[in-house]
This record gives sequence, C-alpha cells and structure tokens, in this order.
Amino acid sequence: MSKLYYPNKELAKKANIKSLEQYYALVDEAKNDYEGYWKNFADKKIDWLSPYSKVLDESNKPFYKWFCEGKLNVSNQCIDRHLEKRANQVAILFEGDRGDVQKITYKELSLNVNRFANLLKNKFDIKKGDRVVLYMPMVPEAAYAMLACTRIGAIHSVVFGGFSAEALKDRIEDAGAKLVITADGAYRKGKPYLLKPVVDDATKNGCDSLEAVLVIQRNNEKIEWNKKDHKYNELIKYESDQCPYEIMDSEDPLFLLYTSGSTGKPKGVQHSTAGYILWAQMTMEWTFDFQDGDVFWCTADIGWITGHTYIVYGPLSCGGTTVMFEGVPTYPDSGRAWKMVEEHQITQFYTAPTAIRVLHKLGEDEPSKYNISSLKVLGTVGEPIDPHAWEWYYKVVGGEKCPIVDTWWQTETGGHMITPLPFATPIKPACATLPLPGIMAEVIEKDGTPTPIKEKGYLCITKPWPSMIRTIWGDDERFKKSYFGDCEKNGESVYFSGDGAMIDEDGYITITGRVDDVINVSGHRLGTAELEAAIAEDEHVAEVAVIGTPHSVKGESIFIYVVLKDNANIKDIFIHVNKILARDIGNIAKADDIVKVEGLPKTRSGKIMRRILRTLAKKEEITQDISTLEDPSVVEKIKKALESS
Ligand code: WTA
Repeated sequence: MSKLYYPNKELAKKANIKSLEQYYALVDEAKNDYEGYWKNFADKKIDWLSPYSKVLDESNKPFYKWFCEGKLNVSNQCIDRHLEKRANQVAILFEGDRGDVQKITYKELSLNVNRFANLLKNKFDIKKGDRVVLYMPMVPEAAYAMLACTRIGAIHSVVFGGFSAEALKDRIEDAGAKLVITADGAYRKGKPYLLKPVVDDATKNGCDSLEAVLVIQRNNEKIEWNKKDHKYNELIKYESDQCPYEIMDSEDPLFLLYTSGSTGKPKGVQHSTAGYILWAQMTMEWTFDFQDGDVFWCTADIGWITGHTYIVYGPLSCGGTTVMFEGVPTYPDSGRAWKMVEEHQITQFYTAPTAIRVLHKLGEDEPSKYNISSLKVLGTVGEPIDPHAWEWYYKVVGGEKCPIVDTWWQTETGGHMITPLPFATPIKPACATLPLPGIMAEVIEKDGTPTPIKEKGYLCITKPWPSMIRTIWGDDERFKKSYFGDCEKNGESVYFSGDGAMIDEDGYITITGRVDDVINVSGHRLGTAELEAAIAEDEHVAEVAVIGTPHSVKGESIFIYVVLKDNANIKDIFIHVNKILARDIGNIAKADDIVKVEGLPKTRSGKIMRRILRTLAKKEEITQDISTLEDPSVVEKIKKALESS
C-alpha cells in the first residue's frame, strides 16, 4: 500500500471542507436525496433572476436538464454581484511575457466587459444564441470577450491558439460562427509572434457564416487588414460602459469547446448556463479551498476547458483574484513561475504534469531560490502524474506542507469529478482519490458490475450531474453514441468517460489512461482518427495507424506505423507527414516516431488492433490473443521492422 499523506490539521480548521467526516456526510446527503442535495447548493450559490421549477428533468435521457426554467446570467455571477463588496479588489492579475503587469479590479472588469458586450451588439449585431469564435492569446481581452458573450447570451467557442488554420476553419464552420475575435499576436519568450495570419488563412475560403473578424492589437506587429477585419482598440473607445445583461435560461448553451474523440472530427462539446457555473464555483471552493484573499493561478491556456473553468468562470464566480499569464514558465529561466508566486503572493498553483516534469528537469532547485511560502494548495490536471514528478512537486515546491490535488475531469464534465479535498482527504501520490460529493463515479464493467478492486475497469459516471455536457453541437446522435453507447448500469445507459481506472481497498480511484483511441500528448487530447486521416493525405501512404507511446516529458508521444505504396524514403515521408500534421491540426500534433511496416494487425472485420501496436512499440512481450487477427504473422514482421528502424 502506498504511503498516505495526511492533511495539515491546523489549516484544516479554516478550510471549506475540514475533514473526511464532513466529506462523507456530504456524500451521504447526495445519496439519500440527490435532487435535494443539488437544490441546496443551487439556492445558495446562484443569484437567480427568477426561480427554477424543477431540479432535474430526466424525461428525455440522456438529454438531462437541470434547474428547469430558472433564469440567471453568468456575467452577473462573475462580475455584477461582486461589485458592491469588491469593486476595488483585483479580479484579473495579468502578467505579460515580458514582465508587464496589469491589475484589473472588479470595477474595471465590469466596465471593460460592458463595453465589449456593447461592441458585439452594436457593431456586429451579435444576438442571443449566435456563435462567436475566439482565437486569442492569453491576454485580459480574451476573458473580457468570453464574459461579454455570456453577458449578451452569445455562445463562445474558444479555439486554442496552437491550432492550425485548417483546424480553426473546421471549428468556425462547424459552429456556424458569425464573428471571430483574435489578436494581431502576442509575446512568447521575449519575442512577438502572430496569430492573425492564421485567421486569414482559415477564412480565405469557406466559412460562409462568418461576417466579421475583430482584431485586438496586442503587439502592433504588421498584419494584413482585410475587408471583414475591424480594429478593437479603436472601436471600443466609442462604446458605453453600461450594458444590461441578457436574462438567460438555466439550459441555454453557455459555450462550445471542441475536443477530440476516438472517431471522426473534433466534437463541439456544449455546456449549459446554470449547471456549469454552479459546479465551477463549488469545485473552486472545495478542491482548491478557495477563500477570500486568495490569489489563484491556473497555468492552462484559455483554449482548453481548464482555462475556461479555472482561469475565468470558477475564480470569478467566487469573487476571487485569478492570475493570467501570457508567457511560458521557463522564460527567461525556469524560475519564472516561482518568481511570480513570490511576487504576487500566489496561494494556489494549478498546472499539468508535463509542466511539472519540465520545471523539475530544467530547474530542480529553482523553487528554493524564491519565497514561495504563500502557497497553500498545489494541483495537477490533464494526464497521469508519475510518482517521481509528484514527489518533487510535493517536497520542493510545496515544502511538504501543501496538499497536491490530482484532479481528474474532462472537457465534457465541465469541472472536477475525482480529486482529493486538500484539507480532508489523505492523499496517495499520483492518485485522484475520491469522487467529489454528488458525483457518482464508479469503476465498472460494461454491464455495470463493479470491477474487482485493483483491476482495470471502465470509469463511468452513473448519475447525471449539473455541469455535464449537454450534447455535441449539431449532432445529438453522436452525443448519445459517444458517451452513452458503451456502458450501462441496472439496464440503463450511463456516461462512460473513455478512461480506464482502478479502485483500491480504500475506494480510492487511480486513472489508468484512455481505453479508447484518444492519445494524450502533454495533456492535450488528440484522436488517432484525426491524426490518421491527416497522415493518409501523403500520397505514398497506403495505410496508417497511430498510437501513443510513453514519453518522459510529454507523458505520451505520437508514434506512427505506415504501410507505403512504394519505395519512398521513410525519412522524407516523416518530414512530410509532420508538415501535414502541423498544417491540419497544429504543432501540438507533431509525431516523434515513424516506422515502416508491411502490414497492420487487423481483426477479420478490419479493425486495427492498436493495443498490439502499443505493446510492440514499448518493446514488450505480446500477451494478448493474436489468433483473431486476419494475419497473425504481421506481428513478427512488425517486431523486425521495429528492431531495424
Ligand atoms: C485525462 C482536461 C489522469 C483523461 C481537464 C481525461 C487525467 C482527459 C487527469 C480529459 C488526471 C484528466 N489523471 N488523467 N488527474 N485529468 N486526465 O478533455 O484521460 O482536455 O479523459 O480535459 O485527460 O482531457 P480534457
């Protein structure tokens, strides 16, 4: 059994959840009266503009509805309702790549968001339900834009700035966006870089729904100005700083966020208004023990769900101070993050295992050069953390006093699902531990029987929860099939996450990674189907299979098996294929390895057995049954190809 790390008793006295007993009491409350449990929090945490009539509507499964007919506005939740008490408190603490700092108070945030909302309405005729795509660097205007959309009921879809023009175009078209908001560029590692040319490329053909592009001038680099382009910095001056918020229904869509699945193109995960904001706030308070005066830093990009929930919506709905950072934590040196913690007296630091591995590797002793004693809670997200990195994080960054919350969740879940509570849960390293109260996470077999302890099973959520995905934008059938098509319990379909997990004798859950065809590179989800479709564009490629293979920094890296049509040189193919991946998806999709094989292991029905390819790439012995393969002899041939590659 791994060592348990117990919460600090002194700090626990002041915590939002103080003990494991309190945790279990909440778990029981949810079990005994599920709707009553959620009602209690919805009544306390949300400023309802008009009350809801029903907590949970299950009449059209799996299209669940929460807090039916309730009315609210998320920008009110995040801004207006705090103004009386917090007008002069810092809401967003922005630090630029070059060290420039802006402290934006709640009052200033309010004025900026109101002006932005007016600009969207008056100049671009954006109305409730319209889709607005954001392709933005990490600057305060990105948060203003998101909140301005929520203020007027427009649906934002933020596309990560590392995605390519092709990927951006797909998302603009799928969402039917009327407006794209972007920036000329921003700064990274001391130098300006450009974003706007990617938007130009993405929108030069197609994108029929698109009417305009709004450009924020961040670095004033030279860019082309086209017919549809508008200058934010000019236009915003003329807008009023007062804009009433739209009255939104609990179930009105709040935003779309595209993510990869095991098949086909990325899916537009649709979140709703009330359920999402409720859980964003509750998880801030529980998982991070967020309290008045805390300064919270989540290092994710706002292009990912982590940036949505834990840079913008979670901290601001709590009336907190959220740190937003334009740069990278290794510039100008690997002490940058710790310097920022010291300077801004940061209390919670939340990042990905990949970043921890990089910071550890490049600057093992850097944290001790700074006074980082303000830290109270450390967090990780997005991929499994290895015990080695965990230990460094715990000892050197946290000084053996800060609990590490290893938070398991997904774009689809909206907020944390399985995580320690920092001052209640005894922690096991690299273990997500227990489901949050009210979250019915279980490790089961496909038919719903509980998986025996310490064996791998399917990680499912067996009851709907408020911040769950509502549908895939424009594709209800795919939503049902992707999430409710694999597992059931008591004869009813339940949400399957795509992850495998193990439960131990204490009921603690350890995530074992994706069991579907999704790979996780530096915490970024990539579907093997999308990658393979791109690679197959190379004219020499006859067949292709992509797998994820363990990588010491990135967690997983992309490994390609190809069957070629001819005798083309594999090195040339590799260079070309990486160009295609960068063009179609983005630099995050670059592959690390390629190997040429004569055939792929397929079942008689033609399905590629990626599990076998994974085992072979790791140079491990095949233990699974290969007799069901169409041609079992390919396995030996692939082994040889790997040896000589
Ligand atoms: C993985 C990120 C291990 C998992 C919030 C999940 C994790 C996918 C953890 C979702 C964790 C997330 N330990 N693996 N603590 N957290 N994952 O949608 O495979 O970008 O399904 O959301 O990341 O990635 P997504």
